[in-house]
Amino acid sequence: MGGGLGVAVLGETVFSCCGFRRDSFSCSRRQRGVNMKILVLKSSGNTKGSSAILADEFSRGAREAGHEVSSYDIMKADIRPCTGCNVCGMSGPCVLKDDYEQELKGLIKEHDMLVFAMPVYYYNWPAQLKVVVDRFYSFTYELTNMRKKVVLLAVAWDNTSSVFSVTQAYYETICDYMHFEDRGRVLGGGCGSPSMTRASQYPEAAYQLGRSL
Ligand SMILES: Cc1cc2nc3c(=O)[nH]c(=O)nc-3n(C[C@H](O)[C@H](O)[C@H](O)COP(=O)(O)O)c2cc1C
Repeated sequence: MGGGLGVAVLGETVFSCCGFRRDSFSCSRRQRGVNMKILVLKSSGNTKGSSAILADEFSRGAREAGHEVSSYDIMKADIRPCTGCNVCGMSGPCVLKDDYEQELKGLIKEHDMLVFAMPVYYYNWPAQLKVVVDRFYSFTYELTNMRKKVVLLAVAWDNTSSVFSVTQAYYETICDYMHFEDRGRVLGGGCGSPSMTRASQYPEAAYQLGRSL
């Protein structure tokens, strides 16, 4: 997807989280017994790819901070696109009896935090993850009332100031509409391959974000 301008892109929230007194913050959370159940949604076919590297480092940090972290590989699941039949009426069972309805929906409900780990595809969320979001439809009201916490972990080949614009705009819009609380972002520009990603600052940023929760 072309060469970059050499502009590193990293979400402000990550920097502010890194600036937190992480140890005392997580320790006091642990003492208050408010550890979270975190579900990392992996959305790349590259199981050892760049977004997986950030997801795994985030998970390592979050576990060290005392949280319970699970991951779900949506590429290995049978998740079909919403057909718009509207039988659910935005608050009922979905007619599609696939892995979303029978497995992932329940997991989403029982976790406090959702982590969207993704490669950027044509300046946007990959289609497979967008399908997951579209399937929120059958429990939109219930999910909105749950006030989930969310994190965005995104990677892209380019390292330009615009490469994450649409990805972030969509994330912010979904947070607003679904009443999700944005707890941080790592935007790995110049993370076009696992070796590029491992050589970058972003695995550490993802670890620190998880550790800061
Ligand atoms: C279909 C497709 C579309 C892509 N679109 C973009 C893009 O718009 N901008 C970009 O910088 N990289 C783009 N890439 C590159 C990937 O985002 C990048 O290689 C990323 O590291 C892949 O992450 P993964 O290893 O987790 O799969 C695209 C890759 C594919 C396969």
